[in-house]
Amino acid sequence: MDIVLGIAVTLVVAIAVQLILVWRKKRMFAKMMHRHLKKGLFSIEEYQEYARKRLPRSTFDYFTDGAGNQSTQQDNETAFKRYRLRQRVLKNIAAPDMSTTLLDSHVTLPIGLGPVLRKSWAWPKGDLCSARAAGEYGICEIVPCYSEQSLEEIARVNTESIKWLQIYLSKQAYHKELIRRAEAAGYKAIVVTVDGHWKRIVYSDWRNMIFKHMLKTTHGNFNGDNFIKAYSQHVVEHASWDDIQEVTKITNLPIILKGIMEPEDALLAIKYGAKAIIVSNHGGRMMDSLPGALDVLPNIVKAVNGEIEVYLDGGVRYGGDILKALALGAKACFIGRPLLYGLSYQGEEGVKQVLNLLKEDLERAMLCTGCKSISQIGPSVISEYQLACCHSNSADRKTHCRK
Ligand SMILES: Cc1cc2nc3c(=O)[nH]c(=O)nc-3n(C[C@H](O)[C@H](O)[C@H](O)COP(=O)(O)O)c2cc1C
Repeated sequence: MDIVLGIAVTLVVAIAVQLILVWRKKRMFAKMMHRHLKKGLFSIEEYQEYARKRLPRSTFDYFTDGAGNQSTQQDNETAFKRYRLRQRVLKNIAAPDMSTTLLDSHVTLPIGLGPVLRKSWAWPKGDLCSARAAGEYGICEIVPCYSEQSLEEIARVNTESIKWLQIYLSKQAYHKELIRRAEAAGYKAIVVTVDGHWKRIVYSDWRNMIFKHMLKTTHGNFNGDNFIKAYSQHVVEHASWDDIQEVTKITNLPIILKGIMEPEDALLAIKYGAKAIIVSNHGGRMMDSLPGALDVLPNIVKAVNGEIEVYLDGGVRYGGDILKALALGAKACFIGRPLLYGLSYQGEEGVKQVLNLLKEDLERAMLCTGCKSISQIGPSVISEYQLACCHSNSADRKTHCRK
């Protein structure tokens, strides 16, 4: 009897040990595969979710929220979802070439980092982290004039890729001095934001008393003045097309207008000397009730008729989104919030991970649609399904889109 019991116990123990070993092996394998397959998180949404958990509520809201009831901000993202791609097979493409040019400068990807403020709220010296990431990826970065590190410091850590300086039209022509400094530091263009003058209403800014935090943020380009002082002293509330013409007279660098949402303004941009425009509604942060940026892109591209380059920002979250914007005529896309979410995750490394996600995803989208190079991306990659309702803002869009 004792022997039988002994054997039974030994058997149970042996089976339990085996089971534990198998379970541990499986876990190790799963972990290894996870590490092998993916460094970092799986989607921009996951980076956003991580930022939501890690950052103080007021910071996360400041980064994420749009103006008013946030319909413009949401439309930026949903505009991409209404388009579908055409799958083409057996095109014998190993690795598509994703490089392109922006105003004659070479970039490795048609993705750039847009100008966003307060990167240090996401990660210490965030301006330098994103500059290094842009340099490593060989992509364009637009440096905001209200960055916390000076434009010269940023230029010093990224000598590898092109940088453009973003400015606002300013009282007493503060922008003149900034432009001179940008020229000296090797910046390749001046981006004038033309939709940043209105007093925006973002409910959470008021709820969270964000202005208190802003008083503590200094700005590298303005002798350490806090944002509210610098902004109120500098930025004009009324600006006109003549001011743009004045900027073109100050510098030989190309001028790019950021915040164009209508074909008429795109044509005026050409008339007043801009070399490129960014179709943008400021990520829905300035004004609610504007259409999604992608929705207005085709008409603007048509009006511009190839005379100047057209870029887009707002709602870009997938590589497929970039492909869609390029198919509809944009030369490149810029990201705002995804950059901040990447920074919040792991600083420079987090930004690189976000860029890698977009890069790999764009590569997949190019392979699937049979595009060997960026120049092959055109309207033909867009599926006829869904197209019928893409430009419509009608409430019954959903019903149409089920086609
Ligand atoms: C926190 C934050 C700060 C921003 N600061 C600026 C700025 O200083 N100048 C500017 O032209 N745009 C600014 N933007 C707008 C972005 O450049 C860009 O237009 C927008 O974020 C794109 O939309 P996305 O966030 O959906 O990618 C800011 C955006 C965010 C989220």
